[in-house]
Amino acid sequence: MEKSGMVFLNGKFLPIEEARVPVLDRGFIFGDGVYELVPVYSRVPFRLDEHLARLERSLAAVRIRNPYGRAEWRDIIVQLVAKQPFEDQGVYFQVTRGVAKRDHAFPKDAAPTVFVMSNPLVCPPKELVESGAAAVTADDFRWQRCDIKSISLIGNCLLRQVSADAGAVETILFRDGQLTEASASNVFVVRGGVILSPPKSKLILPGITYDVVTELAQAGGLPLQFRDVSEAETRGADEIWVTSSSKEVLAIVTLDGKPVGDGKPGPLFRRMYALYQEFKQKVMRAGKERQAA
Ligand SMILES: Cc1ncc(COP(=O)(O)O)c(C=O)c1O
Repeated sequence: MEKSGMVFLNGKFLPIEEARVPVLDRGFIFGDGVYELVPVYSRVPFRLDEHLARLERSLAAVRIRNPYGRAEWRDIIVQLVAKQPFEDQGVYFQVTRGVAKRDHAFPKDAAPTVFVMSNPLVCPPKELVESGAAAVTADDFRWQRCDIKSISLIGNCLLRQVSADAGAVETILFRDGQLTEASASNVFVVRGGVILSPPKSKLILPGITYDVVTELAQAGGLPLQFRDVSEAETRGADEIWVTSSSKEVLAIVTLDGKPVGDGKPGPLFRRMYALYQEFKQKVMRAGKERQAA
């Protein structure tokens, strides 16, 4: 095993302490770049192709050239995962527009900067999954292209801090009286036995976990509808869940200090959580078999 803290920067693997980016990188100056975070269980990346497809869409949307093809990306990530001393990882990768004299307009000939690192994956502890978590709410004041996984995250950071200051795990967002998502997750609510979530649009990130939850609900025969969900419907929901690659599926049991439903993780959450864990295990086993073959 190589030493820990190995990262990938512009074509090379090196220890994180030695990784340097020039101060004129447009990621540093403008937040001009996009990113992804892929969970890795027992060294098997989860939904890597879907993450790479979303990266391709983000890059195209902001007109940054994708420096690598799908197979090259996969190879870099697999190599980096193998270099870490821990099994469960969160692989973070970002592409910026590169280094250029400061000017808002795009540089003509800058090469994109590519940075990839992998950290131990931090999932919600078992006790939190069982007890459920607190969330607060805020007005969604972000830009109108929340479908792009941009590294310009100041809006999300400010909104996440609202819940951090309140000792809560997430900030659930409403725009014009409608639920959008949370500061770093998608949101599902349950009303009258039906799982509801806002449809994909430019106002939410198309979450990979959102898609997994959708597939699992459909395969498991759980009623799920994508439609606008009002703030009042959210506040009066029987259950609220947040989903993301690191949070997986987590029940929200208080919203702005008031209990959601009976204040405990609900029956549909429990079912979905079990389906999600089962699915993860299946993907992991299949990945291990592929690696061994
Ligand atoms: C704003 C926002 N919405 C949703 C998500 C969930 O996306 P995923 O399930 O792909 O992790 C994230 C994840 O980082 C996010 O930052």
